[in-house]
Amino acid sequence: MDYIALEEIDSTNNYAKVNIDDFADKTVIHARRQTSGRGRLTRSWVDLGEGNLFMSIVLKPSDIFNEIYPNITQYLSVALCKVLESYGLTPQIKWPNDVLINGKKIAGILSESVMQGGKFKGLVVGIGVNLNAKQAVVDLVPDKLVTALNLEFGKNIDLNEFRTQLVDEFFKNYDKFLENGFEMIKQDYINRNCFLNKELNVQIFNNIETGLAKSVDDSGALVLQTQNNKELVLTIGDIL
Ligand code: BTN
Repeated sequence: MDYIALEEIDSTNNYAKVNIDDFADKTVIHARRQTSGRGRLTRSWVDLGEGNLFMSIVLKPSDIFNEIYPNITQYLSVALCKVLESYGLTPQIKWPNDVLINGKKIAGILSESVMQGGKFKGLVVGIGVNLNAKQAVVDLVPDKLVTALNLEFGKNIDLNEFRTQLVDEFFKNYDKFLENGFEMIKQDYINRNCFLNKELNVQIFNNIETGLAKSVDDSGALVLQTQNNKELVLTIGDIL
């Protein structure tokens, strides 16, 4: 596994995508500061100050895109939960891959596939984890309830130690996950969910669907039962 350490970058995902030819499979790119972090659905990811985690992992599992690759974000959300649990906390997953503690978002995951001339070059899986932030700063993040590990754990967090723990947990079962797909982690994922059996509003691009979260299927999709008793199987979207 290669490791690239950057002092400051606009976005570790952008950097990984632009330079993907230079990186081997399983390269970890870490930046101490990120000036234009990107989130899902065109949102931004704010740098909450020194000591937070901004990292992208370059993955080149094959030359052809496989339908299980989008599930890598769910696999990473479970790996992150396991690391957070080692700090004595009880994280929960909000479909598809947000990780929350006490209902507040602590991390965000953004996976992008890189194509060039119609050819699949690889995946860039980015993760931001709030590890060390001041309460006054997280309170300023618009739209969402946000927290940081130091605020939940009660002590400052060692960034390098946390990054190593997370990378080790990610790669521990990654090769097996590529063979088996979402089913391999389905129980671990569902055990940590905070959305099943709840009435949800789910944003899919410019559309909002409302319904009861019935289940997560074997491919990681969210099964929503709408008010007119239709079953929607969602593979993308954002629970509001
Ligand atoms: C989200 O919850 O919307 C996803 C946020 C992903 C943020 C991480 S930080 C490291 C990597 N670089 C980026 O620009 N984004 C991801």
